[in-house]
Amino acid sequence: MRLKDKVAIITGGASGIGKAAADRFGQEGAILVIADMSPANIEAALSDLTPKGYRAIGQVCDVSDQSQTQVMAAEVVRQLGRIDILVNNAGISRYRPFATATSEDWDAVLNVDLKGVFFCSQAVAPQMRAQKYGRIVNISSALGTGAAPHGTAGSPGGSAAYASAKAGVGMLTKTLARELGPDGVTVNCVAPGTFLTGISSSTRTPEQVQEHLDYRKKTVVLGRIGTLEELANTILFFASDESSYVTGHTLHVDGGRSDRM
Ligand SMILES: NC(=O)c1ccc[n+]([C@@H]2O[C@H](COP(=O)([O-])OP(=O)(O)OC[C@H]3O[C@@H](n4cnc5c(N)ncnc54)[C@H](O)[C@@H]3O)[C@@H](O)[C@H]2O)c1
Repeated sequence: MRLKDKVAIITGGASGIGKAAADRFGQEGAILVIADMSPANIEAALSDLTPKGYRAIGQVCDVSDQSQTQVMAAEVVRQLGRIDILVNNAGISRYRPFATATSEDWDAVLNVDLKGVFFCSQAVAPQMRAQKYGRIVNISSALGTGAAPHGTAGSPGGSAAYASAKAGVGMLTKTLARELGPDGVTVNCVAPGTFLTGISSSTRTPEQVQEHLDYRKKTVVLGRIGTLEELANTILFFASDESSYVTGHTLHVDGGRSDRM
């Protein structure tokens, strides 16, 4: 088992990529902390995960609220004694045409997708430093390095805020890797391409989702949409000791997207 008895906080762990990572970590013996916004969604995730024999608790936390992230870290240490792994996965997107996107759109996305990574990392860092051990895995996006077409291919509008936030996560990863490396904490980043989850359809119609998936299949060199298990395996690599001499790195898990090449 690659994560035996490791305490792993997964933000946004109640659905999509976060839940897939939690499932994969559970298979490897981790003690899971499903951190998410809604108690009902956390309960639903726990009722899927715990029958598999995984040890897991829930923690309600809005990652964009600094005080809630501090409470989360303190509560995990109180209940489980340590924090070995943090997956900064919680995220939202709002596809809005650039010309009409609002200040509120910008703040909503940046607050969760970028500031949330900063707040959660800051909250767990003292414990990881004291342990002289930690693994932080940030989830950015292919949109953080390559600009996607807007208003076509099932994308109903621009993603300026989302792409800016995700590009920031790549740089935050490097900065935190420098800060925390001397204390045995690695900080890496996974940049997913297109995966079918709630976020893919949050501001798209079902027809636009299908159009988007069809377009993406044609623009990745592997010619297909990836599975959540494939993505979870990469997150596991950075969360485990197999990546012990890697830090500050962003790994694209995107089937070889042409807009990155
Ligand atoms: N699905 C994709 O194609 C794709 C591609 C690139 C990057 N990503 C990134 O992967 C991550 C996970 O997204 P997903 O696809 O699983 O979407 P999802 O919508 O299924 O999951 C996101 C989770 O984050 C939680 N969340 C949202 N705001 C939060 C907050 N303020 N505090 C705590 N939790 C919050 C949601 O409740 C939800 O459980 C995101 O960071 C997203 O940007 C997804």
